[in-house]
Amino acid sequence: MSSAEAEWDERFRRGDHASVEIDPLIELSKNYWSLLPAGRPNGRKPRALDVASGAGRHAVYLAAQGFDVTAVDISSEALSQVAQRAVAQNISIETRQADLETADADLGESLYNLVAVFFYLHRPLFSALRRAIRPQGIIVYKTYSVDQLRYPGRPRHRIHMLEHNELLREFSDFRVLRYEEEWDGKGTASLIARKP
Ligand SMILES: C[S@@+](CC[C@H](N)C(=O)[O-])C[C@H]1O[C@@H](n2cnc3c(N)ncnc32)[C@H](O)[C@@H]1O
Repeated sequence: MSSAEAEWDERFRRGDHASVEIDPLIELSKNYWSLLPAGRPNGRKPRALDVASGAGRHAVYLAAQGFDVTAVDISSEALSQVAQRAVAQNISIETRQADLETADADLGESLYNLVAVFFYLHRPLFSALRRAIRPQGIIVYKTYSVDQLRYPGRPRHRIHMLEHNELLREFSDFRVLRYEEEWDGKGTASLIARKP
């Protein structure tokens, strides 16, 4: 087990990041779901990927909204919490344990109608995220920005914070449906954008 995995497992065992409250951005993304590519053949549900899902607050939400959801995270403890929540709500979520910070990290090609990333940033993963989305699929991304440096607490290192306009630059060939930078107690940037 890597030290990152052990550290995250320990955090989830302690009950950190255990909130079931969804981020308002995932709810807002609903306004754009009519733009998603049609469902899959044989009437199967559209697919969503929750990247670095943690205990699965958004994975559970998306599954309850009718997506076939895969939650991927380095922490097997977090993923077992996802599985428990799914059972409790009588929904099904596929869980995948993976270190997304290895050189060969892969999320597949054109698989997902919607990809969600909340409070996780590993810049070398951007190309795998872009690749994983189906044409006309949507990315919903929100995490800390450098405006977080106005406030105490984590994160402190710029490697974990978006620069101003960085998501806009990274997804400049996507159709930007919504972009916002906020600093209201925490500094964040968020994007909803559609792949061509
Ligand atoms: C701040 S939490 C956010 C969890 C969730 N997205 C949410 O918003 O509730 C960061 C997540 O990134 C995961 N993570 C950290 N390093 C990772 C890695 N190398 N590969 C995959 N997941 C990782 C952690 O296990 C944790 O679940």
